[in-house]
Amino acid sequence: MRRVDTERLVLEPVTSANAMTLWRIMQSAHLREYQDVPRHTKDEFARRVDARPKAFDSRSIGRFEWLVVARASQQAIGWISLRVGDGGRGTAEIGYSIVATHRGSGFASEAARAIVDYAFEESDLHQLDACCVPANAASRRLLARAGFDEIRVQRSGAIVRGRPVDIVIFELHRDAWVRAKTLAAKKSAAR
Ligand SMILES: CC(C)(COP(=O)(O)OP(=O)(O)OC[C@H]1O[C@@H](n2cnc3c(N)ncnc32)[C@H](O)[C@@H]1OP(=O)(O)O)[C@@H](O)C(=O)NCCC(=O)NCCS
Repeated sequence: MRRVDTERLVLEPVTSANAMTLWRIMQSAHLREYQDVPRHTKDEFARRVDARPKAFDSRSIGRFEWLVVARASQQAIGWISLRVGDGGRGTAEIGYSIVATHRGSGFASEAARAIVDYAFEESDLHQLDACCVPANAASRRLLARAGFDEIRVQRSGAIVRGRPVDIVIFELHRDAWVRAKTLAAKKSAAR
């Protein structure tokens, strides 16, 4: 797992060294309206981060996570993650959060596009999944703009603030990602 650089962001792998920075961000307000963010103690969170796999490839099962750091302020403003499931399906689920004070500036979109590229370039995963509650307009828009297809609504597919909620399931297949990349490269060459 490596650091990923974008125009305005540095995506720093979460390790034992910076786990407490992420833990502090996870205590911020307005992160739990649409998603379930676990409330671990500092010690429990540190233990979990320590137990995560270190190398990212499609055979490494578990959670891979990056701190989203704004280049301009050097401030950590959120996180982005990939969770590779243990079903041997060659898929991973992407997740992200940006603290409320830094939303609406395209940071989550910039981070998500970079991690989608990273996931397909550095592994042989064949599909990325995502989900969000129907009311999460920013997340739905982000996923659509990153090339994900809205597949279906799953009734009571998640628990948010202790209650079952419907979720919209999204998928991005490797071949669709390759097609979009090829098209973008052709357009940029034609300019
Ligand atoms: C979802 C979230 C990560 C988006 O972060 P962000 O940095 O504000 O997102 P972006 O600025 O990249 O915006 C993504 C798109 O949504 C649009 N958008 C942003 N806020 C919006 C809102 N409140 N309503 C509707 N659309 C919105 C943006 O215009 C952008 O679309 P565009 O590319 O066509 O302009 C952020 O709102 C968040 O952390 N929410 C709480 C945690 C959460 O819900 N995480 C996702 C769980 S699935």
